[in-house]
Amino acid sequence: MRKLIIFAFIGFLAQLIDGSLGMAYGVTSTSMLLTFGIAPAVASASVHLSEVVTTAASGISHMKFGNVDRQALFKLIIPGSIGAFAGACFLSNLPGDLIKPYISIFLLILGVYVLFRFLRTSKTKSEKKSINLTRKRSITLGLIAGFADSTGGGGWGPITTPVLLSQEGVPARKVVGTVDTSEFAIAVSATLGFLIALGWQEVNWFWVTSLMVGGIIAAPIAAWIVTKLPSYLLGVLVGGFIILTNARTLLATWSLQDWVPVIYMLILIGWAGSLVFVIWNNKKGFHKDLRGDSMSKQENIHQHPFSITKKLRQAQHGHKSYILWFTGLSGSGKSTIANMVEGRLFAMGISTYILDGDNLRNGLNEDLGFSSGDRKENIRRIGEVSKLFVDSGIVVLATFISPYVSDREEVRKKVQQDEFIEIYVKCPIEACEKRDPKGLYKKARSGEITSFTGVSAPYEEPENPEIIIETSQYTIEECVQQVMKYLKDNGL
Ligand code: ADX
Repeated sequence: MRKLIIFAFIGFLAQLIDGSLGMAYGVTSTSMLLTFGIAPAVASASVHLSEVVTTAASGISHMKFGNVDRQALFKLIIPGSIGAFAGACFLSNLPGDLIKPYISIFLLILGVYVLFRFLRTSKTKSEKKSINLTRKRSITLGLIAGFADSTGGGGWGPITTPVLLSQEGVPARKVVGTVDTSEFAIAVSATLGFLIALGWQEVNWFWVTSLMVGGIIAAPIAAWIVTKLPSYLLGVLVGGFIILTNARTLLATWSLQDWVPVIYMLILIGWAGSLVFVIWNNKKGFHKDLRGDSMSKQENIHQHPFSITKKLRQAQHGHKSYILWFTGLSGSGKSTIANMVEGRLFAMGISTYILDGDNLRNGLNEDLGFSSGDRKENIRRIGEVSKLFVDSGIVVLATFISPYVSDREEVRKKVQQDEFIEIYVKCPIEACEKRDPKGLYKKARSGEITSFTGVSAPYEEPENPEIIIETSQYTIEECVQQVMKYLKDNGL
């Protein structure tokens, strides 16, 4: 039982690394098995066999998480399988160990290249949606990598992952997902070859099953991790890993055991340094990138230079466009005043539109409630809509409690300085409560409505509003006059 857990753990770790970096299941699990004193041939056969199941689990997981470029997948599978099968069948006649150092040198250089490429690429700029793979390249790459995989000359993942990653603008996540998924076909072909060449007796079923169990558990976790890691991070992780594993191969081939600690140390320091550098370089978007958020999406959005501008639209309307932002408690009179101001402006031939809390909350913002986060989002969306209206040349009258200074300031920042006119509709809560046009204060006091502004949620007064109208001191007409005067005095 203890052995089962240890082997399952080996399988789990190996698949976690392989599934998230697109390589190294074989290297990781074989070397761990060897440290447990298992004969190399048996270890290799067991690992390959368990790989058939773990790569299937991994492939399904990557597909589910959308990490796979299907076109590239099919292009790689056929030549890869042929290469792997041929390699496995003729294993005994082939000088795998002779080729190995050359492939390692090539991969080491490729690793350095991949690492630097991703160090240099800031964010996920100009990242393509798919892996661009011509038929000729896929055949060459598939045959060589498949062959090397079963002859022990490098491995499917360690060759295809860096080669594909070395292309400009390639999506790292798709490379890892596609390579990992295609590995299923390679594992099947290589195993078939092995079974024909070596027979079943070399396989230890207990180990194979334990490795499989661990791998199956790790596969979806790894595929999920890949969706969360931004390309630059994945690229640097893969680059460093390739350098490390190939340096290891070369040091062993050239019997430079004495140098192992120094070289490993240098590589690890360089790798860690690169990771710190690349995260620091992209730190603005890092958290967003980890969540797979807007960064890459926004960077792929390019505004078309439309020929009809705000200025032209304003000229056609014959007036400026701006936002009259009415803020204040519920029942303070925002909608009443805005309604009358709009009437006056309309009569003057000005194009206007009212955005009001109660009606927007039934449509655009029907998914939002009254928590501070929802109110913030409510105001952010209204701000964006208002900005579009201003751009279209229309005067917007926005009437929202908008209880937070910071949310209102965010809206102010979205437009030009003179396009945001904050009107504080000031009225003591007692007066609002006395009016209580919708009976909401009563419900708030009785606890029927929670987080009600002024009762059980805060209202932050504007610090420097353009206009303050006190609806409990003046008549509605006087308040409307006050707004109209401000507009006239400011040439609006
Ligand atoms: S804001 O705080 O996010 O700016 P908004 O102006 O859109 O609020 O909506 C306020 C309107 O929603 C009020 O006029 C009232 O009719 C209704 N409402 C319902 N529940 C609440 C609440 N808990 N707090 C404030 N207004 C509420």
